[in-house]
Amino acid sequence: MDKRPVGVFDSGLGGASVLREALRILPTEHYIYFGDNKNAPYGDKSEQEILELSLKSADFLLSFGIKVMLFACNTATGTAIKQVREKLSIPVISIEPAIKPACEAVGDGTILMLATKATTQMERYHKLKARMPQSCRIIDIPCPGFVERIEQGVFGIGEYDDLFDKHLGEFKGERVDAIVLGCTHYIFIKEVLAEYAQRNFLGECRFFDGNLGTVRQLARVLKSKDMLNNQQKPTVDFYTSGDEARLKPLFEKLLYS
Ligand code: DGL
Repeated sequence: MDKRPVGVFDSGLGGASVLREALRILPTEHYIYFGDNKNAPYGDKSEQEILELSLKSADFLLSFGIKVMLFACNTATGTAIKQVREKLSIPVISIEPAIKPACEAVGDGTILMLATKATTQMERYHKLKARMPQSCRIIDIPCPGFVERIEQGVFGIGEYDDLFDKHLGEFKGERVDAIVLGCTHYIFIKEVLAEYAQRNFLGECRFFDGNLGTVRQLARVLKSKDMLNNQQKPTVDFYTSGDEARLKPLFEKLLYS
């Protein structure tokens, strides 16, 4: 039994979608969440900037004496995970776009992989993609603008149509077999996107994300290292570099919705 907290990091509110799964699978842990909301979105920044911000955020979480670090951000994982693992002596769990389950589960049609601009350009992601069977089926779509709107608390049907048209408009009337949500923020607009996809695309449009797989990996690591906690209930402490008075209620709404 290990009562030290689990540190969870994202550039902003997106990691709440991963933490939500963690609360379900590992409900006896104490979580400390840090959102670097002041600097979000990371996805439009240079690799050097993302690396520096991720290392600084990791240091902040380390100051709480965490037993494991959960990088709940595809963008930060792709850029900084190697350096973070080299620097930290605790286990670091990370997330990456769920293209593997998508390739294994759907036929031979188009898979749209939606992520931040930075993720779609990263060497780490392209190496992962190269290992997929028929990787030419995967079409990478950088989606600038999504994260900013999600950080503002906008989640209504139709409220993203302008951005969807801009980034996905060329697939209208086309068959789309799967959509991979390659950014943890995008989970919060899954229903909004599904409604758009139903109106505009042909094909099954099955959704995939890496959240559950990542949390299962966290559970495996904690168990194998004998680090599980045994609290009666999960506890979550929220920290942000942004405006806490506005962000904390939004974070809690997303986490417990
Ligand atoms: N939530 C993050 C991810 O999974 C990135 C959002 C951002 O651009 O800051 O990639």
